[in-house]
Amino acid sequence: MKKIKIGLAGLGNVGRGVYEILQKDKDLLTQRSQAQFEVVAVSARSKKDFIDAQIKFYENAIDLANDANVDVVIEVIGGDKVAKELLEASLKNNKKFVTANKQLLAEQGFSIAQLLEKTNSSIGFEAAVAGGIPIIKQFKEGLAANEIQEFYAILNGTCNFILTKMQNEKLDFALALKQAQDLGYAEADPTFDIKGIDTAHKLVLLSSIASATKPAFAQLHVEGIDEVTIDDINLADALGYKIKLLATYKKLPEGLQQTVYPALISVKEKIAQVDDSFNAVMVKAENADCNFIVGRGAGKLPTASAIVADLVDIALNRSSFLFNVKSEQLAEANIINISQREGKYFLRLLINKEAAQKTDLAKAIFGEKIKAEKAQFLDRGDEVLCGFVTDSQKEETVLEAIKNFDSDLVKSAKFLRVEETGF
Ligand SMILES: NC(=O)c1ccc[n+]([C@@H]2O[C@H](COP(=O)([O-])OP(=O)(O)OC[C@H]3O[C@@H](n4cnc5c(N)ncnc54)[C@H](OP(=O)(O)O)[C@@H]3O)[C@@H](O)[C@H]2O)c1
Repeated sequence: MKKIKIGLAGLGNVGRGVYEILQKDKDLLTQRSQAQFEVVAVSARSKKDFIDAQIKFYENAIDLANDANVDVVIEVIGGDKVAKELLEASLKNNKKFVTANKQLLAEQGFSIAQLLEKTNSSIGFEAAVAGGIPIIKQFKEGLAANEIQEFYAILNGTCNFILTKMQNEKLDFALALKQAQDLGYAEADPTFDIKGIDTAHKLVLLSSIASATKPAFAQLHVEGIDEVTIDDINLADALGYKIKLLATYKKLPEGLQQTVYPALISVKEKIAQVDDSFNAVMVKAENADCNFIVGRGAGKLPTASAIVADLVDIALNRSSFLFNVKSEQLAEANIINISQREGKYFLRLLINKEAAQKTDLAKAIFGEKIKAEKAQFLDRGDEVLCGFVTDSQKEETVLEAIKNFDSDLVKSAKFLRVEETGF
Protein backbone atom coordinates (compact mmCIF):
# COMPACT_ATOMS: atom_id res chain seq x y z
CA MET A 1 0.00 0.00 0.00
CA LYS A 2 1.10 3.55 -0.84
CA LYS A 3 2.72 5.42 2.08
CA ILE A 4 2.36 9.18 2.32
CA LYS A 5 5.00 10.75 4.52
CA ILE A 6 4.05 13.94 6.26
CA GLY A 7 6.07 16.83 7.61
CA LEU A 8 3.94 18.74 10.13
CA ALA A 9 4.89 22.38 10.72
CA GLY A 10 3.13 23.79 13.79
CA LEU A 11 2.07 21.73 16.77
CA GLY A 12 -0.41 24.11 18.35
CA ASN A 13 -4.15 23.78 18.38
CA VAL A 14 -4.60 22.61 14.79
CA GLY A 15 -1.29 20.71 14.47
CA ARG A 16 -2.15 18.64 17.49
CA GLY A 17 -5.60 17.93 16.07
CA VAL A 18 -4.09 16.69 12.81
CA TYR A 19 -1.71 14.41 14.68
CA GLU A 20 -4.59 13.04 16.76
CA ILE A 21 -6.90 12.35 13.81
CA LEU A 22 -4.13 10.59 11.87
CA GLN A 23 -3.71 8.26 14.83
CA LYS A 24 -7.27 7.65 15.98
CA ASP A 25 -8.89 7.42 12.53
CA LYS A 26 -6.07 5.56 10.85
CA ASP A 27 -8.10 2.57 9.58
CA LEU A 28 -10.94 4.66 8.19
CA LEU A 29 -8.47 6.93 6.42
CA THR A 30 -6.58 4.00 4.93
CA GLN A 31 -9.81 2.54 3.52
CA ARG A 32 -10.86 5.84 2.01
CA SER A 33 -7.49 6.84 0.59
CA GLN A 34 -5.93 3.46 -0.14
CA ALA A 35 -2.83 4.93 1.50
CA GLN A 36 -1.15 5.03 4.86
CA PHE A 37 -0.38 8.43 6.30
CA GLU A 38 2.70 8.66 8.45
CA VAL A 39 4.03 11.74 10.23
CA VAL A 40 7.79 11.45 9.74
CA ALA A 41 8.94 14.92 10.86
CA VAL A 42 7.56 17.87 12.81
CA SER A 43 8.52 21.43 13.64
CA ALA A 44 7.48 23.95 16.29
CA ARG A 45 9.28 26.48 18.43
CA SER A 46 9.62 23.86 21.17
CA LYS A 47 9.40 20.05 21.29
CA LYS A 48 6.09 18.52 22.37
CA ASP A 49 5.53 15.50 24.63
CA PHE A 50 2.52 14.24 22.66
CA ILE A 51 4.67 13.59 19.57
CA ASP A 52 6.21 10.11 19.34
CA ALA A 53 9.91 10.41 20.26
CA GLN A 54 10.90 8.50 17.07
CA ILE A 55 9.59 11.31 14.87
CA LYS A 56 12.22 13.76 13.67
CA PHE A 57 11.98 17.25 15.20
CA TYR A 58 13.24 20.30 13.30
CA GLU A 59 13.81 23.61 15.03
CA ASN A 60 13.72 25.28 11.64
CA ALA A 61 10.45 24.53 9.83
CA ILE A 62 12.08 25.07 6.42
CA ASP A 63 14.06 21.87 7.00
CA LEU A 64 10.81 19.96 6.43
CA ALA A 65 10.81 21.21 2.86
CA ASN A 66 14.37 19.97 2.38
CA ASP A 67 13.78 16.54 3.94
CA ALA A 68 13.82 14.00 1.10
CA ASN A 69 11.71 11.65 3.21
CA VAL A 70 8.74 14.08 3.32
CA ASP A 71 6.04 13.89 0.59
CA VAL A 72 3.54 16.39 2.00
CA VAL A 73 4.16 19.46 4.16
CA ILE A 74 1.32 20.62 6.37
CA GLU A 75 1.68 24.24 7.47
CA VAL A 76 -0.27 25.16 10.61
CA ILE A 77 2.03 27.84 11.95
CA GLY A 78 0.14 30.87 10.64
CA GLY A 79 1.35 34.35 9.66
CA ASP A 80 3.02 35.37 6.44
CA LYS A 81 6.75 34.97 7.08
CA VAL A 82 7.97 31.44 7.95
CA ALA A 83 4.76 30.08 6.43
CA LYS A 84 5.48 31.73 3.09
CA GLU A 85 9.09 30.61 3.04
CA LEU A 86 7.96 27.08 3.86
CA LEU A 87 5.32 27.11 1.12
CA GLU A 88 7.80 28.29 -1.52
CA ALA A 89 10.53 25.85 -0.47
CA SER A 90 8.05 22.95 -0.34
CA LEU A 91 6.63 23.59 -3.82
CA LYS A 92 10.09 24.10 -5.31
CA ASN A 93 11.16 20.75 -3.82
CA ASN A 94 8.11 19.02 -5.33
CA LYS A 95 6.27 18.48 -2.07
CA LYS A 96 2.51 18.71 -1.88
CA PHE A 97 1.34 21.41 0.52
CA VAL A 98 -1.64 21.65 2.88
CA THR A 99 -2.36 24.79 4.90
CA ALA A 100 -4.93 26.48 7.13
CA ASN A 101 -3.38 29.88 6.45
CA LYS A 102 -6.03 32.24 5.06
CA GLN A 103 -3.92 35.35 5.59
CA LEU A 104 -1.10 34.14 3.36
CA LEU A 105 -3.39 32.97 0.56
CA ALA A 106 -5.67 36.02 0.71
CA GLU A 107 -2.83 38.53 0.68
CA GLN A 108 -0.44 36.76 -1.71
CA GLY A 109 -2.66 34.23 -3.44
CA PHE A 110 -2.02 35.25 -7.04
CA SER A 111 1.76 34.80 -6.94
CA ILE A 112 1.24 31.55 -5.01
CA ALA A 113 -1.17 30.31 -7.72
CA GLN A 114 1.47 31.09 -10.36
CA LEU A 115 4.19 29.30 -8.41
CA LEU A 116 1.90 26.33 -7.89
CA GLU A 117 1.39 25.91 -11.63
CA LYS A 118 5.07 26.40 -12.36
CA THR A 119 6.01 23.67 -9.91
CA ASN A 120 3.11 21.45 -10.92
CA SER A 121 2.34 20.66 -7.28
CA SER A 122 -0.85 20.97 -5.20
CA ILE A 123 -2.06 23.13 -2.33
CA GLY A 124 -5.00 22.10 -0.18
CA PHE A 125 -6.54 24.87 1.91
CA GLU A 126 -9.95 23.56 2.96
CA ALA A 127 -9.10 24.43 6.59
CA ALA A 128 -8.40 28.07 5.76
CA VAL A 129 -12.09 28.97 5.33
CA ALA A 130 -14.81 28.05 7.81
CA GLY A 131 -12.79 25.31 9.58
CA GLY A 132 -14.74 22.06 9.56
CA ILE A 133 -17.25 23.19 6.90
CA PRO A 134 -16.18 21.81 3.50
CA ILE A 135 -16.89 25.08 1.72
CA ILE A 136 -13.88 25.12 -0.61
CA LYS A 137 -14.96 21.72 -1.92
CA GLN A 138 -18.53 22.95 -2.25
CA PHE A 139 -17.42 25.94 -4.32
CA LYS A 140 -14.82 24.12 -6.42
CA GLU A 141 -16.45 20.72 -6.90
CA GLY A 142 -20.05 20.48 -5.72
CA LEU A 143 -21.06 23.70 -7.48
CA ALA A 144 -18.71 23.25 -10.43
CA ALA A 145 -21.65 23.52 -12.85
CA ASN A 146 -22.80 26.85 -11.48
CA GLU A 147 -22.09 30.52 -11.70
CA ILE A 148 -22.11 31.62 -8.07
CA GLN A 149 -24.23 34.75 -8.08
CA GLU A 150 -24.29 35.70 -4.42
CA PHE A 151 -23.21 34.42 -1.08
CA TYR A 152 -23.59 35.57 2.49
CA ALA A 153 -21.40 34.11 5.19
CA ILE A 154 -20.64 34.13 8.89
CA LEU A 155 -16.96 33.21 8.83
CA ASN A 156 -15.63 34.16 12.26
CA GLY A 157 -16.80 32.09 15.22
CA THR A 158 -15.31 34.48 17.77
CA CYS A 159 -17.36 37.40 16.48
CA ASN A 160 -20.50 35.30 16.25
CA PHE A 161 -19.98 34.15 19.83
CA ILE A 162 -19.52 37.75 21.05
CA LEU A 163 -22.59 39.05 19.19
CA THR A 164 -24.70 36.13 20.46
CA LYS A 165 -23.60 36.85 24.05
CA MET A 166 -24.45 40.54 23.61
CA GLN A 167 -27.87 39.63 22.19
CA ASN A 168 -28.84 36.91 24.66
CA GLU A 169 -27.27 38.14 27.88
CA LYS A 170 -27.27 41.88 27.19
CA LEU A 171 -23.53 42.07 27.83
CA ASP A 172 -21.63 44.99 26.43
CA PHE A 173 -18.95 44.36 23.81
CA ALA A 174 -15.94 44.49 26.17
CA LEU A 175 -17.45 41.95 28.58
CA ALA A 176 -18.52 39.59 25.80
CA LEU A 177 -15.00 39.77 24.32
CA LYS A 178 -13.50 38.98 27.73
CA GLN A 179 -15.73 35.89 28.00
CA ALA A 180 -14.69 34.80 24.50
CA GLN A 181 -11.03 35.13 25.55
CA ASP A 182 -11.59 33.25 28.84
CA LEU A 183 -13.17 30.38 26.89
CA GLY A 184 -10.28 30.29 24.41
CA TYR A 185 -12.39 31.48 21.44
CA ALA A 186 -10.55 34.78 21.05
CA GLU A 187 -6.80 35.32 20.87
CA ALA A 188 -4.98 37.46 23.46
CA ASP A 189 -4.71 39.95 20.58
CA PRO A 190 -8.17 39.70 18.99
CA THR A 191 -7.61 42.46 16.41
CA PHE A 192 -7.86 40.27 13.29
CA ASP A 193 -11.13 38.78 14.51
CA ILE A 194 -13.00 41.79 15.87
CA LYS A 195 -11.85 44.21 13.15
CA GLY A 196 -13.21 41.88 10.45
CA ILE A 197 -9.78 41.15 8.92
CA ASP A 198 -9.98 37.39 9.45
CA THR A 199 -13.44 37.34 7.86
CA ALA A 200 -12.15 39.41 4.94
CA HIS A 201 -9.25 36.99 4.35
CA LYS A 202 -11.74 34.12 4.07
CA LEU A 203 -14.18 36.14 1.94
CA VAL A 204 -11.39 36.93 -0.53
CA LEU A 205 -10.57 33.25 -0.99
CA LEU A 206 -14.19 32.26 -1.58
CA SER A 207 -14.73 35.25 -3.88
CA SER A 208 -11.71 34.43 -6.03
CA ILE A 209 -12.96 30.89 -6.52
CA ALA A 210 -16.51 32.11 -7.21
CA SER A 211 -15.56 34.78 -9.71
CA ALA A 212 -12.24 33.58 -11.22
CA THR A 213 -10.60 36.84 -10.19
CA LYS A 214 -7.33 37.60 -8.42
CA PRO A 215 -7.64 37.94 -4.64
CA ALA A 216 -8.33 41.63 -3.98
CA PHE A 217 -7.94 41.86 -0.22
CA ALA A 218 -6.62 45.44 -0.21
CA GLN A 219 -9.67 46.73 -2.12
CA LEU A 220 -12.33 45.32 0.19
CA HIS A 221 -14.52 47.41 2.46
CA VAL A 222 -14.01 45.86 5.91
CA GLU A 223 -15.66 46.80 9.19
CA GLY A 224 -15.52 44.79 12.39
CA ILE A 225 -17.81 44.43 15.37
CA ASP A 226 -15.81 46.50 17.86
CA GLU A 227 -18.14 49.48 17.50
CA VAL A 228 -21.38 47.53 17.85
CA THR A 229 -23.01 48.60 21.11
CA ILE A 230 -25.64 47.06 23.29
CA ASP A 231 -27.99 49.88 22.18
CA ASP A 232 -27.55 48.76 18.55
CA ILE A 233 -28.32 45.18 19.57
CA ASN A 234 -31.39 46.18 21.59
CA LEU A 235 -32.83 48.46 18.91
CA ALA A 236 -32.17 45.86 16.21
CA ASP A 237 -33.87 43.26 18.41
CA ALA A 238 -36.94 45.46 18.90
CA LEU A 239 -37.09 45.97 15.11
CA GLY A 240 -36.97 42.20 14.45
CA TYR A 241 -33.30 41.83 13.50
CA LYS A 242 -30.10 40.28 14.78
CA ILE A 243 -26.67 41.76 14.15
CA LYS A 244 -24.14 39.41 12.53
CA LEU A 245 -20.67 40.02 11.14
CA LEU A 246 -21.45 39.22 7.53
CA ALA A 247 -19.22 38.59 4.54
CA THR A 248 -21.18 39.45 1.42
CA TYR A 249 -20.44 38.65 -2.22
CA LYS A 250 -22.60 39.73 -5.14
CA LYS A 251 -21.88 39.52 -8.83
CA LEU A 252 -23.56 42.61 -10.27
CA PRO A 253 -23.49 44.03 -13.81
CA GLU A 254 -21.26 46.91 -12.62
CA GLY A 255 -18.74 44.66 -10.84
CA LEU A 256 -18.25 42.61 -7.71
CA GLN A 257 -19.52 43.55 -4.30
CA GLN A 258 -17.26 42.05 -1.64
CA THR A 259 -17.81 43.48 1.81
CA VAL A 260 -17.43 42.67 5.49
CA TYR A 261 -19.56 44.56 8.02
CA PRO A 262 -21.88 44.00 10.95
CA ALA A 263 -25.30 43.72 9.32
CA LEU A 264 -28.85 43.64 10.61
CA ILE A 265 -30.56 40.48 9.37
CA SER A 266 -34.23 39.71 9.92
CA VAL A 267 -34.66 37.03 12.60
CA LYS A 268 -36.79 35.13 10.07
CA GLU A 269 -33.82 34.51 7.78
CA LYS A 270 -31.90 31.27 8.23
CA ILE A 271 -28.47 32.84 8.57
CA ALA A 272 -29.71 35.05 11.43
CA GLN A 273 -30.47 31.88 13.36
CA VAL A 274 -26.83 30.75 13.32
CA ASP A 275 -25.59 31.63 16.79
CA ASP A 276 -22.70 31.05 19.18
CA SER A 277 -19.40 30.14 17.56
CA PHE A 278 -20.97 28.49 14.50
CA ASN A 279 -20.12 29.53 10.94
CA ALA A 280 -22.51 29.46 7.98
CA VAL A 281 -22.50 30.10 4.25
CA MET A 282 -25.62 30.78 2.19
CA VAL A 283 -24.97 30.53 -1.55
CA LYS A 284 -27.18 31.44 -4.49
CA ALA A 285 -25.96 29.52 -7.51
CA GLU A 286 -27.23 29.67 -11.07
CA ASN A 287 -28.46 26.08 -11.42
CA ALA A 288 -28.38 24.57 -7.95
CA ASP A 289 -30.26 27.59 -6.54
CA CYS A 290 -29.91 28.08 -2.76
CA ASN A 291 -27.45 26.14 -0.63
CA PHE A 292 -27.06 26.69 3.08
CA ILE A 293 -24.36 25.10 5.17
CA VAL A 294 -23.70 25.52 8.90
CA GLY A 295 -20.95 24.09 11.07
CA ARG A 296 -17.91 24.53 13.24
CA GLY A 297 -15.72 27.21 11.75
CA ALA A 298 -12.74 26.64 14.03
CA GLY A 299 -11.38 24.49 16.82
CA LYS A 300 -8.81 21.73 17.03
CA LEU A 301 -10.62 18.76 15.50
CA PRO A 302 -12.98 20.56 13.08
CA THR A 303 -10.05 22.42 11.51
CA ALA A 304 -7.84 19.33 11.53
CA SER A 305 -10.69 17.39 9.87
CA ALA A 306 -10.44 19.71 6.86
CA ILE A 307 -6.65 19.32 6.71
CA VAL A 308 -6.87 15.54 6.77
CA ALA A 309 -9.55 15.63 4.04
CA ASP A 310 -6.98 17.46 1.89
CA LEU A 311 -4.52 14.63 2.60
CA VAL A 312 -7.06 12.10 1.34
CA ASP A 313 -7.41 14.15 -1.86
CA ILE A 314 -3.64 14.01 -2.30
CA ALA A 315 -3.65 10.25 -1.81
CA LEU A 316 -6.36 9.89 -4.46
CA ASN A 317 -4.59 12.28 -6.84
CA ARG A 318 -7.47 14.73 -6.73
CA SER A 319 -6.21 18.23 -7.33
CA SER A 320 -7.46 21.55 -8.66
CA PHE A 321 -6.13 24.98 -9.55
CA LEU A 322 -5.71 27.17 -6.48
CA PHE A 323 -8.64 29.44 -7.36
CA ASN A 324 -10.36 26.90 -9.60
CA VAL A 325 -9.05 28.19 -12.94
CA LYS A 326 -5.53 28.61 -14.29
CA SER A 327 -3.77 31.64 -12.84
CA GLU A 328 -3.52 33.21 -16.32
CA GLN A 329 -7.34 33.07 -16.50
CA LEU A 330 -7.80 34.99 -13.24
CA ALA A 331 -9.10 38.47 -14.11
CA GLU A 332 -8.57 41.63 -12.07
CA ALA A 333 -11.45 41.95 -9.61
CA ASN A 334 -13.58 44.99 -10.33
CA ILE A 335 -14.72 45.78 -6.79
CA ILE A 336 -17.67 48.13 -6.45
CA ASN A 337 -17.11 51.01 -4.04
CA ILE A 338 -19.21 50.68 -0.89
CA SER A 339 -20.75 54.14 -1.56
CA GLN A 340 -22.61 52.49 -4.47
CA ARG A 341 -24.13 49.76 -2.30
CA GLU A 342 -27.90 49.59 -2.57
CA GLY A 343 -29.95 48.30 0.30
CA LYS A 344 -31.73 49.18 3.49
CA TYR A 345 -30.05 51.02 6.34
CA PHE A 346 -30.44 51.06 10.10
CA LEU A 347 -29.96 54.49 11.63
CA ARG A 348 -29.46 54.97 15.34
CA LEU A 349 -30.19 58.56 16.23
CA LEU A 350 -30.18 60.40 19.53
CA ILE A 351 -32.75 63.17 19.46
CA ASN A 352 -34.32 65.38 22.11
CA LYS A 353 -37.63 64.26 23.51
CA GLU A 354 -39.53 67.37 22.59
CA ALA A 355 -38.56 66.99 18.95
CA ALA A 356 -39.45 63.29 19.07
CA GLN A 357 -43.03 64.25 19.78
CA LYS A 358 -43.43 66.05 16.45
CA THR A 359 -46.13 64.41 14.37
CA ASP A 360 -44.01 63.20 11.45
CA LEU A 361 -40.63 62.68 13.04
CA ALA A 362 -39.16 60.53 10.26
CA LYS A 363 -40.00 63.17 7.65
CA ALA A 364 -38.54 65.91 9.85
CA ILE A 365 -35.30 63.93 10.06
CA PHE A 366 -34.95 62.39 6.61
CA GLY A 367 -36.87 64.78 4.32
CA GLU A 368 -38.49 63.43 1.16
CA LYS A 369 -35.82 61.15 -0.33
CA ILE A 370 -35.50 58.52 2.37
CA LYS A 371 -38.46 56.68 3.85
CA ALA A 372 -38.40 55.06 7.28
CA GLU A 373 -40.05 51.64 7.06
CA LYS A 374 -39.77 50.82 10.75
CA ALA A 375 -38.93 52.65 13.95
CA GLN A 376 -38.29 51.84 17.60
CA PHE A 377 -37.54 54.15 20.49
CA LEU A 378 -35.61 53.79 23.76
CA ASP A 379 -36.18 56.37 26.47
CA ARG A 380 -33.05 58.26 27.57
CA GLY A 381 -34.41 60.90 30.03
CA ASP A 382 -34.45 64.20 28.15
CA GLU A 383 -33.52 62.42 24.97
CA VAL A 384 -34.76 59.50 22.93
CA LEU A 385 -32.65 56.91 21.16
CA CYS A 386 -34.35 56.08 17.85
CA GLY A 387 -33.72 53.12 15.61
CA PHE A 388 -34.97 53.53 12.04
CA VAL A 389 -34.86 51.10 9.16
CA THR A 390 -34.98 52.93 5.83
CA ASP A 391 -36.24 51.83 2.45
CA SER A 392 -33.67 50.69 -0.10
CA GLN A 393 -31.18 53.47 -0.84
CA LYS A 394 -27.73 54.01 -2.23
CA GLU A 395 -25.19 54.33 0.56
CA GLU A 396 -24.00 57.72 -0.70
CA THR A 397 -27.57 59.06 -0.36
CA VAL A 398 -27.74 57.93 3.26
CA LEU A 399 -24.33 59.47 4.02
CA GLU A 400 -25.40 62.75 2.44
CA ALA A 401 -28.61 62.77 4.50
CA ILE A 402 -26.67 62.15 7.72
CA LYS A 403 -24.35 65.06 6.89
CA ASN A 404 -27.35 67.34 6.50
CA PHE A 405 -29.34 66.32 9.59
CA ASP A 406 -30.67 69.28 11.57
CA SER A 407 -28.25 69.42 14.51
CA ASP A 408 -30.91 70.90 16.84
CA LEU A 409 -33.01 67.83 16.20
CA VAL A 410 -30.43 65.03 15.88
CA LYS A 411 -27.75 64.99 18.56
CA SER A 412 -25.81 62.03 17.20
CA ALA A 413 -26.17 59.60 14.32
CA LYS A 414 -24.75 56.24 13.38
CA PHE A 415 -25.69 53.75 10.70
CA LEU A 416 -25.39 50.03 10.03
CA ARG A 417 -26.47 48.14 6.93
CA VAL A 418 -29.48 45.83 6.68
CA GLU A 419 -28.90 42.71 4.59
CA GLU A 420 -31.67 40.67 2.98
CA THR A 421 -30.56 37.21 1.88
CA GLY A 422 -34.07 36.18 0.87
CA PHE A 423 -33.56 32.71 2.37
N1 LIG B 1 -7.27 27.44 15.78
C1 LIG B 1 -8.24 27.31 14.88
O1 LIG B 1 -9.36 26.95 15.23
C2 LIG B 1 -7.96 27.61 13.43
C3 LIG B 1 -9.02 27.49 12.50
C4 LIG B 1 -8.78 27.68 11.15
C5 LIG B 1 -7.51 28.04 10.74
N2 LIG B 1 -6.50 28.17 11.68
C6 LIG B 1 -5.18 28.54 11.19
O2 LIG B 1 -4.28 27.47 11.48
C7 LIG B 1 -2.99 27.99 11.74
C8 LIG B 1 -2.53 27.52 13.11
O3 LIG B 1 -3.44 27.92 14.09
P1 LIG B 1 -3.36 27.38 15.60
O4 LIG B 1 -4.59 27.86 16.27
O5 LIG B 1 -3.04 25.95 15.63
O6 LIG B 1 -2.11 28.23 16.15
P2 LIG B 1 -1.28 27.96 17.47
O7 LIG B 1 -2.04 27.13 18.44
O8 LIG B 1 -0.78 29.29 17.91
O9 LIG B 1 -0.05 27.06 16.96
C9 LIG B 1 0.98 27.58 16.16
C10 LIG B 1 2.09 26.56 16.13
O10 LIG B 1 3.12 27.06 15.26
C11 LIG B 1 4.36 26.92 15.92
N3 LIG B 1 5.27 27.94 15.43
C12 LIG B 1 5.23 29.27 15.58
N4 LIG B 1 6.26 29.87 14.98
C13 LIG B 1 6.98 28.87 14.41
C14 LIG B 1 8.18 28.83 13.67
N5 LIG B 1 8.83 29.94 13.35
N6 LIG B 1 8.64 27.63 13.25
C15 LIG B 1 7.99 26.47 13.57
N7 LIG B 1 6.84 26.45 14.29
C16 LIG B 1 6.36 27.65 14.71
C17 LIG B 1 4.08 27.07 17.39
O11 LIG B 1 5.13 26.49 18.14
P3 LIG B 1 5.10 26.39 19.75
O12 LIG B 1 3.96 25.49 20.09
O13 LIG B 1 6.38 25.75 20.11
O14 LIG B 1 4.94 27.79 20.24
C18 LIG B 1 2.76 26.31 17.50
O15 LIG B 1 2.99 24.95 17.69
C19 LIG B 1 -3.11 29.51 11.56
O16 LIG B 1 -2.81 29.84 10.23
C20 LIG B 1 -4.57 29.75 11.83
O17 LIG B 1 -5.05 30.93 11.23
C21 LIG B 1 -6.71 27.96 12.98
